[in-house]
Amino acid sequence: MADRRGTTIYLYELAWILPSFAIPVGMLVALVVTAFGAGVHLPGVEGRVDPTKVAESALFKTPGVVEIAPGQYEVRMTAQIWSFAPNEIRVPAGSTVHFWATSKDVVHGFLIPKHIVNLMLLPGQVAHAQVRFDTPGEYPIICHEYCGIAHHTMAGKVIVEARR
Ligand code: CUA
Repeated sequence: MADRRGTTIYLYELAWILPSFAIPVGMLVALVVTAFGAGVHLPGVEGRVDPTKVAESALFKTPGVVEIAPGQYEVRMTAQIWSFAPNEIRVPAGSTVHFWATSKDVVHGFLIPKHIVNLMLLPGQVAHAQVRFDTPGEYPIICHEYCGIAHHTMAGKVIVEARR
C-alpha cells in the first residue's frame, strides 16, 4: 500500500499554490486586455524610409504641422544633429497630435515627459506617437539619446494654446 500522506495537500500549502497560479493568470489577463482592448503597446516600427534620402521622402520633404481634421494635427518631424524640425508646434487645447518622426543622421530620442511619450528615432525607421493635449501650456520635447557634443541642447516644444 502506498503511503497516502505524501500526496495530501494541506491548507497552508494551498494558500501558497493558489496565488502562484492566480497572479500570473491575472497578469496575463491584464496584458491581453490592455494590448487588445485598450490598444496599449510598445512603440514599434511604423514604416521605413531611406536614411540618405529623408529630405526627398514623401512623408518628410515638408516637415511641419498640418491640421488633418477638426482638432487633429499631424506633425511630420525630422531629427538631426542637434535639432528637431519643426522645433515649435502650436496647437489649441483639446487637440490630438499625430507625430511622425525619423532621424536624418544618428540615433536621437523623442521624449515628452509630461505625456509619457518615449520614442527612439532611428535612421531608416519611422516612429509614430499619438498624443492628446488638453491642458494649455508648454510641453518640452527632449532628445534623450546621446547623439554627440551638443546633445544636451537638442530640444523642441509643443505650445498648447487656450481656446478663445
Ligand atoms: Cu539628439 Cu541627443
